[in-house]
Amino acid sequence: MATDDAGIAAGWDRSAAAYDDVLDANRRGAERLVAALPDAPYREVVDVGCGTGFASWAMARRAGARRLTGVDVAPAMVERYLERLGGLPGVAVDAVVAPADAMPLPAASADAVVSAMALHWMPDRAGAVAAMARLLRPGGTLGVLCSGAGADGEYRDLIAGLDPPVPAELVDAYARMQAAEGELEDHARAAGLEPVDAWTERRRRRMPPERFLARKRATESALIAHLPEEEREAMWRRIAAAVHAAAEPGGFAFTFVKAYVVARAPGPAPPGA
Ligand SMILES: C[S@@+](CC[C@H](N)C(=O)[O-])C[C@H]1O[C@@H](n2cnc3c(N)ncnc32)[C@H](O)[C@@H]1O
Repeated sequence: MATDDAGIAAGWDRSAAAYDDVLDANRRGAERLVAALPDAPYREVVDVGCGTGFASWAMARRAGARRLTGVDVAPAMVERYLERLGGLPGVAVDAVVAPADAMPLPAASADAVVSAMALHWMPDRAGAVAAMARLLRPGGTLGVLCSGAGADGEYRDLIAGLDPPVPAELVDAYARMQAAEGELEDHARAAGLEPVDAWTERRRRRMPPERFLARKRATESALIAHLPEEEREAMWRRIAAAVHAAAEPGGFAFTFVKAYVVARAPGPAPPGA
């Protein structure tokens, strides 16, 4: 089961090229997270589980970031991050390949730390939030967005009922990887931060089956990267047939849930904020 950082990184490396096209919903989620941060501008920003840089991009465009540091376990994601953000005028951009709980970055060096749709991939969520908090200057702000409890439940139930069955890790991942806003607040408090805002977005969405499936392949490939390719492809064909069969005229209907927390390190806001 690919729950270790190396397995997750291998899976995300494989999805890096398709990511921006099929995960546009994550771009919009990152923008909503950044729009909710109080006290912008934030000059020095760390983006944890940065992927191709949706949250960093929003921090530069909307929150005044002048120095961005991306952190991700997947080297292909870090490469894309640097390509995508490297040309932003007036912004210094850097990135490191590292897991969130071992970031080689100095303590108390960031005005804001953001993490969008990545915490649920991390094996120790409390430890990852503590590592993010360590990077904040006094008065600095943490903003986290991750998959919320019940997200894509219809799809989870659909694949759980397939015969022959899909790998258990694909089904089990749903309960294991989703967080409620209260859990995020608890992690922030345990890390010595003061929660400012925590909320959950819950929507019923419909999407053309092919688009929904492309999104699932891009995210779930990270969970089954250890399976032989032939086995993975046969499984995706079975899943695709089931999603098409369950689709309504308006598309495949699913519950979209995201949990957010914004928290602040004790102390006066950093100068410039
Ligand atoms: C769904 S993508 C989100 C990317 C980006 N933040 C966004 O909003 O689009 C999840 C990212 O988290 C990274 N990731 C997973 N586990 C990690 C860990 N333990 N430490 C750092 N990054 C991790 C993955 O490699 C992947 O790039």
